Amino acid sequence: MKIIKLPSEIEIGQAVGDMFCALAQQNPQAVFGLATGATPIPTYQRMIARCKAGEVSFAGVTTFNLDEYCNLPEAHPQSYRSFMRAQLFGQIDILPQNTHFLDGNASDELAECQRFDALVEQVGGIDLQLLGIGRNGHIGFNEPDDTFTDGSFKVELTPSTIAANSVYFTEDVPMPTHAMTMGVGSILRAKEIVLIATGSAKAEAIKAMIEGPVDPQSPASALQKHKNVTIYLDPAAASLLE
Ligand code: GLP
Repeated sequence: MKIIKLPSEIEIGQAVGDMFCALAQQNPQAVFGLATGATPIPTYQRMIARCKAGEVSFAGVTTFNLDEYCNLPEAHPQSYRSFMRAQLFGQIDILPQNTHFLDGNASDELAECQRFDALVEQVGGIDLQLLGIGRNGHIGFNEPDDTFTDGSFKVELTPSTIAANSVYFTEDVPMPTHAMTMGVGSILRAKEIVLIATGSAKAEAIKAMIEGPVDPQSPASALQKHKNVTIYLDPAAASLLE
């Protein structure tokens, strides 16, 4: 794992945003794996700024998002589809039909996971996968468990994740308890991975991911097995590293 420490989330967003822009310039038909949460927002802002400046086009790019909540209407502002439209897709020239999500409301969950995984394979796999990390070390919504997961699946969220993400929900529409997510195996099949962590709440998960054993109780530690991973950290997220 290549570890890069930068002073703030702004510099990290610029560096990682530039990675996605450079890939789209080299390969206009590139396939991006994308993430939600607060962490990738500066990355998306960089991509938006450079697209608006005419420096890059995403019109030929295909995207797959890591995860989506279950039992949340697609149009709800906290669905990951809505998040991506607001934070990125609605502000760049990507074609909506080229942006793919797991359908958290699918009646046949197994068939939905198979459809999504087959589509990733059909386009030749993910060229560059963006990841954040949960406070408990989750990637996508792969929560700590006894074994590593492989393809996409439906997951029950842990109390830690529910507590962290509940701030985005209200009493009327409470935080969903389940989600659909790409599995750890799906993530590891990406040709290149970039993970961003900012803030002290991520410091323990980062230490376990980098310095701990490969252990499904720290799902992000699986990245130690991938050949092309770059980790971007701000000083707070890196603060517990030896
Ligand atoms: C979310 C997402 C993850 C994300 C993580 C951290 O719930 N499923 O993909 O990396 O939790 O989110 P944040 O960046 O807001 O800290």
